[in-house]
Amino acid sequence: MNAVQDLPALRQLVKEARREGKSIGFVATMGALHEGHLSLVRQARKTCGYTVVSIFVNPLQFAPGEDFDRYPRRGNEDAALLEKEGVDLLYLPDARVSYPPDFSTSVEVARVSEGGEGAVRPGHFRGVATVVAKLFLQVQPDFAFLGRKDLQQVAVIRRMARDLDFPISIEVGDTVREPDGLARSSRNAYLTPDERQLAAGFPAALFEARDRVAAGERDVEQLEQDSRRDLEAAGLEVDYVEVVSPDTMSRPARIEPGSVLCAAVRAGKTRLIDNVTLLEE
Ligand code: PAJ
Repeated sequence: MNAVQDLPALRQLVKEARREGKSIGFVATMGALHEGHLSLVRQARKTCGYTVVSIFVNPLQFAPGEDFDRYPRRGNEDAALLEKEGVDLLYLPDARVSYPPDFSTSVEVARVSEGGEGAVRPGHFRGVATVVAKLFLQVQPDFAFLGRKDLQQVAVIRRMARDLDFPISIEVGDTVREPDGLARSSRNAYLTPDERQLAAGFPAALFEARDRVAAGERDVEQLEQDSRRDLEAAGLEVDYVEVVSPDTMSRPARIEPGSVLCAAVRAGKTRLIDNVTLLEE
């Protein structure tokens, strides 16, 4: 596996892979890698001849007072995991080079970025869209692999890629979970043992919602209310719990095939997000 920090070196290696006729797959991450990330890497390796993974804790997508400073950084462990997975190129951009003091441009994806996480974390998706636009232009992959766990992020990046004509196919991987259902996340490292126990109630409430829909529930508000009650009963603080259509992130009139229940909760001080498809298409 090659590891590079600077853009000319990245471009040279990707160019050589292209010259060999290989398609380029890309997985963007903020590191502290887990099975969720690695499942995307495996999907990329299956689909593409050359796999690029970036690790960059993007300051633009953290608001002041969020966890940028304490976000887990495990460079050596991450590199070893990627090497084992057969990744071709690890790209480690430098924040000072990516964002010089007079950096002036941002990518704002309206509408899909406004509800859910966007409402609770103003500016977050501007930071995500801006860094992903940069990474896409730097790597110029044929395929980019994103996790469904961050459903709104998928909607934002898909919309950006469509609106700005990025010639990249966006592929989405299923959410990878712990045995008790908790979605894998780099932020799970923040959970104290007590919070970790509470956190198991999060996926349980989402799966309960899916069961309610399987039993015939189609009323959006009723389902949201019942799920909020389940989450609170599990000792979790609810930021939001919303039924959405995944492409637009808007609320459907009734629960229909493809509808997703998205939620953000806090277990103690730790914030968690997750979602579940209520009815398969
Ligand atoms: P990060 O949280 O490191 O996630 C990188 C990719 O892994 C994202 O596409 C995310 O959806 C996916 N992922 C995370 N947990 C997952 C899980 N349990 N199952 C499946 N996929 C999972 O998301 C980001 O970084 C950043 O916002 C980024 C896109 C890199 C831009 O900075």
